[in-house]
Amino acid sequence: MEKMPFRDAQAVTDLEAVIAAARAASATTTSDWRKALPVLTGSMVTLRELRLSDAPSLLAMLSTEEVARFISPPPTTIEGFERFIAWTHRERAAGNYVCFAVVPHGMDTAIGIFQIRQLEPGFGTAEWGFAIGSAFWGTGVFVDGAKLVIDFAFDVIQTHRLEARAAVLNGRGNAALRKIGAVQEGVLRKSFLRNGEYLDQTLWTILDEDWRSAKAFVGVRIH
Ligand SMILES: CC(C)(COP(=O)(O)OP(=O)(O)OC[C@H]1O[C@@H](n2cnc3c(N)ncnc32)[C@H](O)[C@@H]1OP(=O)(O)O)[C@@H](O)C(=O)NCCC(=O)NCCS
Repeated sequence: MEKMPFRDAQAVTDLEAVIAAARAASATTTSDWRKALPVLTGSMVTLRELRLSDAPSLLAMLSTEEVARFISPPPTTIEGFERFIAWTHRERAAGNYVCFAVVPHGMDTAIGIFQIRQLEPGFGTAEWGFAIGSAFWGTGVFVDGAKLVIDFAFDVIQTHRLEARAAVLNGRGNAALRKIGAVQEGVLRKSFLRNGEYLDQTLWTILDEDWRSAKAFVGVRIH
């Protein structure tokens, strides 16, 4: 959600259609991600399509001050998250964007999200972002989910350059990106408006060739 294109002002009026689309999309495994996202399984988490029923959990997990501090303001109500979830389905169907729910094994609802949006048609260059409830920070859930979503970006949607932006002040976010193997390319000065203040952001990238080489070489840092 950090500087991703969703705006809650896009109110959805046809709730029945939204619910039908969400049901059709949920829990489906398919190779055509535009129709429905595949279910990706790691050692700690499952990544799957968001469901409307994730809205209360996402509100509780992502609306806290510590999670939201350096990202675009999340919705503030369950209905707002339902509209966000419906928007993710429409953007995925349009082929512009994907958003995975992070569901720890043994749980049924989302405790965070991973997003990827295309920065050019066809996702050659894409940007990813993530947010996880603070109860799950430092547990390994981030790294487990990140590996799945990076593989998805390079292997399924054919990204070759995966960018991430993190506010320079976001020590945890920057350290997480470094840990997963992203390379710091520079600082985007005053590029992120948050709480009425423009913040500097660090630009991080992972290239498909680097990711595959790292995996081939035992992947000391990422596997
Ligand atoms: C970013 C996020 C998904 C990472 O998940 P996480 O579980 O916290 O990540 P991890 O614990 O695996 O890794 C974070 C690392 O930052 C380190 N760290 C924590 N606070 C730090 C700080 N202030 N400065 C530098 N490093 C810090 C941790 O020690 C850890 O490194 P280690 O595993 O080598 O000890 C999670 O913190 C989050 O959702 N944050 C809020 C939303 C957000 O900022 N999203 C990112 C936008 S780019």
